[in-house]
Amino acid sequence: QINRVLSHALTLKNQSQPWLQHVASAKSTKKLRLPSQSLFLKTVALLFSKRSTRTRVAAETSASMLGGQALFLGVDDIQLGVNESMRDSARVIGGMCQGIFARVGDHSDIEELAAHSPVPVLNALSSLWHPTQVLADLLTLHELAAGARPDWRAPTPAAPSPPTPGLRTRNPFAGLAPLRPLTIAYVGDPANVLHDMLVAYPRLGHTMRVASPPAYRAPAAVWDRLAELGIADAIHWTADPAEAVQGADIVVTDTWISMGQEAEKAERLRAFEGYQITEALCANAAPNWAFMHCLPRKPNEVDDEVFYGPRSIVFPVSDNRKWTIMALFDLLFGRWDLYGENSNW
Ligand code: CP
Ligand code: NVA
Repeated sequence: QINRVLSHALTLKNQSQPWLQHVASAKSTKKLRLPSQSLFLKTVALLFSKRSTRTRVAAETSASMLGGQALFLGVDDIQLGVNESMRDSARVIGGMCQGIFARVGDHSDIEELAAHSPVPVLNALSSLWHPTQVLADLLTLHELAAGARPDWRAPTPAAPSPPTPGLRTRNPFAGLAPLRPLTIAYVGDPANVLHDMLVAYPRLGHTMRVASPPAYRAPAAVWDRLAELGIADAIHWTADPAEAVQGADIVVTDTWISMGQEAEKAERLRAFEGYQITEALCANAAPNWAFMHCLPRKPNEVDDEVFYGPRSIVFPVSDNRKWTIMALFDLLFGRWDLYGENSNW
């Protein structure tokens, strides 16, 4: 199917459940057949103003597997920010490429980019959201439910989803085990990764519990969307990490010092003291709790025993960044109406 309307993906907050499930079923692409060659003769611009290992490698290898190419444009490579505005850069890059995967500082930068881009824009991380991370997390949970973690599997298979405009009509969960409702506890700095978890997981039937110091809470933009979705009250938020992890199937954290917050390092290390994920902290989590982290990781937020131990699913999640980003490239850029009236060709 070809997308006739220019659609961006800057966060999961506006995406439907079938859309989330479709992307989270990306592994069937890997297992069952070669990926489509929907990026043949197409170029995806990787407009990255911050460092990246996983997202960049996933993007470059995905573009190649879909038959196209990725063009890495770092801050030191192009005119943006020094001699040229985001608005003009969006029009120029979008005039030659068929999609833009952008990692920015302030979220308003990617909104400005999307507002002026003639081609779809996908968020590779912003101050507010990290949608591609949460989709890889979700795929990994399904995959584990199908294999090593049968205790995460729903007792009865989910009914096939109805066809969704713009998506393949097959059951997006074909080949993937449906998940039972899981309890997911996030402990640490509430940031971009958590924000997309909050707007996605409760709508897929999972429970979110969060622990953060009182001075570190999600911004109004996130709470407003949670209220609109009717899920704000379902989130259990506390300052006590032990309380948050109570009964949790999955315990998650992220760095305490996100990219761009380096000047706040000393203050943040003090503020998050006591929030490090350890076996002792998680004594009252579910007996078989698993540990998840988007990476890169520092030992402040999780000790080596947990991070490198049998509970950790961090590297399967990292591998799955590729399959979910490939699904998004196919969906957003590969099926964009290249020759239609919206086309820049
Ligand atoms: N998790 C993640 O986005 O990693 P990178 O910053 O290395 O891309
Ligand atoms: N919260 C982290 C995520 C890195 C993938 C950051 O923004 O730096």
